[in-house]
Amino acid sequence: MAKITYIAADGGACTLDVDDGVSLMEAAVANGVPGIDGDCGGNCACATCHVHIDARWLAAAGAKSEMEAAMLDFAEGVTADSRLACQIMASATLDGMVVRTPLSQH
Ligand code: FES
Repeated sequence: MAKITYIAADGGACTLDVDDGVSLMEAAVANGVPGIDGDCGGNCACATCHVHIDARWLAAAGAKSEMEAAMLDFAEGVTADSRLACQIMASATLDGMVVRTPLSQH
């Protein structure tokens, strides 16, 4: 399990306990975290789960797959810390991670 803090574009924060193997997108959608849509259900096919990973956690989040990198091309405001939340699975390694959600996913 990992405590994941989601910080919205307006500064509002929400911390969830996310079970191992559950994606940061799934946890966010299930708990009504604003700013993450997850339109494709986690199939890396929509880019509506775009988040910015806090710099301290970028390495722990692991490397992007080629498919994730390609899909991020469809997201707005992509930066070096951009990831798709459906491609990051919770584990103890990520306990304490902070991610920021964009103002909009569309
Ligand atoms: S939920 Fe569609 S790409 Fe992540």
